[in-house]
Amino acid sequence: MIEFLAPFYPWLKALHVISVIAWMAGLFYLPRLFVYHAESAPGSDKSETFKVMERRLLKAIMNPAMIATWLFGILVAFAGGWWTAPWLHAKLLLVLVMSGFHGWLARCRRDFAEDRNRHTSRTYRIANELPTLLVILIVVLVVVKPF
Ligand code: HEM
Repeated sequence: MIEFLAPFYPWLKALHVISVIAWMAGLFYLPRLFVYHAESAPGSDKSETFKVMERRLLKAIMNPAMIATWLFGILVAFAGGWWTAPWLHAKLLLVLVMSGFHGWLARCRRDFAEDRNRHTSRTYRIANELPTLLVILIVVLVVVKPF
């Protein structure tokens, strides 16, 4: 436990959960935008509008929210002395997968921005399920703490 952080525990956890909500909103919404973007013709008005929406969502919301989630999550772990808890190790593994998914979405966004999308709308529909599965497992780990 880092002593001076302990009094801020509830505040750090509140900021952590707020950041998590913003990040998750983006992880659910961006692949949804890709589903419709993949079905619109490159160069069309619709496609250009999706490009603006995707860029703003990723840069203005998702990237800062992911950084804040990590930052406040790490501070909460120090403040509560959680680093040796097995549930946290399992959670970190799942959060790494989630961060990798974020990275994959960022790459897809770049491809769309250059009119070089490489996946079908069906792929994005399936990809949309991954954050749902991850968030269920993470919340059970952090709330139930089964081990
Ligand atoms: C990025 C790395 C992360 C670290 C180091 C981390 C660490 C922690 C720690 C130590 C707690 C405090 C647990 C407690 O007080 O019982 C916590 C709470 C929480 N975390 Fe994370 N977390 C991270 C990412 C995430 C993600 C990605 C999610 C959701 C998808 C999430 C969801 C939550 C929730 C909902 C709580 C509140 C649980 C409660 O108050 O019972 N965390 N986190």
